[in-house]
This record gives sequence, C-alpha cells and structure tokens, in this order.
Amino acid sequence: MTALRLTSLFALSLLALSFALPSAPTAPARVDDGEEDSPLLKDMEVIQDQLKFLRRNLKKPEENPASLAALQEMQRAAVACKGMSFPMADRAEGEAKAELQKGYKLEMIGCIEAMLQMERALLEGDNDKARELYKTVKAFEDSGHEKYTEE
Ligand code: HEM
Repeated sequence: MTALRLTSLFALSLLALSFALPSAPTAPARVDDGEEDSPLLKDMEVIQDQLKFLRRNLKKPEENPASLAALQEMQRAAVACKGMSFPMADRAEGEAKAELQKGYKLEMIGCIEAMLQMERALLEGDNDKARELYKTVKAFEDSGHEKYTEE
C-alpha cells in the first residue's frame, strides 16, 4: 500500500468516525422563534424578577432598602404594562376589544394598588403586612393571566 493510499484511508476513517460519534450536547436553549420579546413581555419579566426577590427579602427587615428599590422597579414596570396593548385585545374588535382593554386596565390598577400598599407597609416597618400583600400581588398574576392570556 502506498503512503498516499494509507493517508487517504486514514482520512476516510476519521470522517466515518465523526459521523458515527454523537455530536456534543448543545445547551437546552428556550425555543427561539426568531422574534424578540415584546415590550409587554419584557416588563412582565421585570415584575416576575422583582417579585421573586421580594419573596425572600421581605423576611429580612434589615434588607428593607433593597426591597423598597425592588418595589420601585416593579411598580415602574407595572405602570408601563398598564399602558400597553396585549395580544388578546389586539385580536379582538369593536365592543369586545373595548371591554377587554377596560378590564385589563382595571386589573392592572388593582395590582399596582397592592404594590403601593406593600410599599407603604415597608416604609412603616411592617414586614408582616408587606408579606401578606405579597400574596395579594401574586394573586393578580393568576387572575390577570386567566382572563387576558390564551395559553
Ligand atoms: C403581578 C404579577 C405578574 C407577574 C409576575 C406576571 C408575569 C408575566 C410573565 C413572566 C409573562 C410572560 C409569560 C410568557 O413568556 O409566556 C406574562 C405575560 C402576560 N401577562 Fe403577566 N404577570 C403579572 C400580572 C399580570 C396582570 C395583573 C395582568 C393583566 C391585567 C397580566 C397580563 C399579562 C398578559 C396579557 C401577558 C401576555 C403577553 C404576551 O403574550 O405578549 N399579567 N406575565
């Protein structure tokens, strides 16, 4: 066997091996449909992140300055969401659309009111009350999504 034939045989077996071996596992990425998150989704995620932070932090009164900063950011995002449209309303028309928009806004207002009460409780140093109000805000997540999202 010539040196040339040996080399090409070697190259061929390497190639075969590369097909036979399983490829390196790729990171489990979230489904990417090529579209960027809408401004509404981005701000909803801000609310979610700050709520997660508050769930742990409200137990620690010495951390109240950080909790108040999280609340401020959460309220900013919620007020922004209140002013945005959402897919279910975008798809509706006429009277039904107007009803959806009004209901969504009222629900967001209730949610923001609970956030403000939570801020008041924290400023008054009442962490137990703030923790109760955490549950009220969280309940708005369930009822808001039940009424105004389709998945
Ligand atoms: C208060 C706590 C809330 C949290 C933590 C929260 C969190 C979220 C998150 C993480 C998403 C994205 C879900 C996904 O990617 O599939 C989302 C979507 C959505 N949320 Fe909220 N949410 C809250 C309250 C509300 C309220 C009160 C309403 C209605 C008044 C609402 C209406 C919506 C709508 C319409 C969407 C879908 C947006 C879209 O598909 O483009 N959410 N929310």
